Amino acid sequence: MNRRDAEALDAADPLARFRDRFDLPDGLIYLDGNSLGPLPRTTAPRLDALVRQEWGRDLIASWNTAGWIDAPQRVGAKIARLVGAKANEVVVADSTSVNLFKLAAGALSLRPGRRKIVTERGNFPTDIYVLEGLAALAGAELVVVPTDDLVEAIDEQTALVALTHVHYASGRRWDMAAVTGAVHAKGALALWDLSHTAGALAGELNAANADLAVGCGYKHLNGGPGAPAFLFVAERHQGAMRSPLSGWMGHAEPFAFEPGFRPAPDIRAQLCGTPPILALAALECGLDLALEADGRAVEAKGRALCGQFIDLVEARCAGHGLKLVGPRDLGQRGLHVAFAHPDAYALVQALIARGVVGDFRDPDIARFGFPPLYVRHVDVWDAVEILREVLETRAWDRPQFQQRAAVT
Ligand SMILES: Cc1ncc(COP(=O)(O)O)c(C=O)c1O
Repeated sequence: MNRRDAEALDAADPLARFRDRFDLPDGLIYLDGNSLGPLPRTTAPRLDALVRQEWGRDLIASWNTAGWIDAPQRVGAKIARLVGAKANEVVVADSTSVNLFKLAAGALSLRPGRRKIVTERGNFPTDIYVLEGLAALAGAELVVVPTDDLVEAIDEQTALVALTHVHYASGRRWDMAAVTGAVHAKGALALWDLSHTAGALAGELNAANADLAVGCGYKHLNGGPGAPAFLFVAERHQGAMRSPLSGWMGHAEPFAFEPGFRPAPDIRAQLCGTPPILALAALECGLDLALEADGRAVEAKGRALCGQFIDLVEARCAGHGLKLVGPRDLGQRGLHVAFAHPDAYALVQALIARGVVGDFRDPDIARFGFPPLYVRHVDVWDAVEILREVLETRAWDRPQFQQRAAVT
């Protein structure tokens, strides 16, 4: 492949028109949308209107007149379309970490007598930390096993298996249907963290018969920094599953102001406090954009971009100590690619200084994301050429690139 070939692929790309819908800085090759998605062009005007009119002029009436009170379900129903769920199975609330706590606690309550929660070593740290905290509180046991031992670790004592569908560092993707089947075979429940899946890969929650799921709004959903997260509870579990955070928004009738908690009979039972309306509006802008694209085309282009990147790095940057992390089979990956390098932090900083934004993950990973709505094949070509130049000139080997920032 050469640059011309990349240009030809972009010219034939049915998703090419989406790039202009984002407010991307000129000249920047942004390969970090799997960490923080860029700004859709609709977001700032929408927030401006919301702040000035709905909040500024209409004030408290907007809870009813502007549909604020229904926003968690309305926006959740849009996410449901992306993750392969029914409209009434997803709601937007809280952060991914908090939602994980709520659903994992709910899973324990659905499997009384079983006290084991199983997850994999190397899962995203917040997932492990939250499960640790819950296990301590609930008198459960958290079993953290190497990836290859996961299925064997599930037994008749297991209440819940909690996994991240696409691994945050390696990009490795679990076979959701197969693992969920193995979990169900032992009578346990499967909870999937879709933070690196939603908006990137075609949704499969119902097709895989998943029980529970959570995920971020600020990565491939382009909802903005700290966007609210979502959670999924399969319809069959909704009646019985209680949230441990029984706040008033999860009450069957929040405005009846009853003295005791009576859970909503549906997905609203997983809500806790007042929804963050500004943040929900920003998230909805990202979702409306994502929903215009065909999910299968998004996944297909993402795979092609990842494949192009892996092939070009291995062909053009050989001999500089880069080693692909995670599977080579694109069908077993999400839409980011990680290479290990002994000086990965400095390497990523040197790339950022040249306008190629990826990120670093401890201890030695340089990570690059390929969200198909705005990354072009020609960006992949140019990024690899810049990487090659950085490696060949050892441009990363400068003191200013060693200084660790608070957020990597
Ligand atoms: C797999 C996964 N889960 C959860 C999170 C973050 O959770 P929270 O939004 O609660 O900070 C991330 C952030 O990168 C992640 O990669």
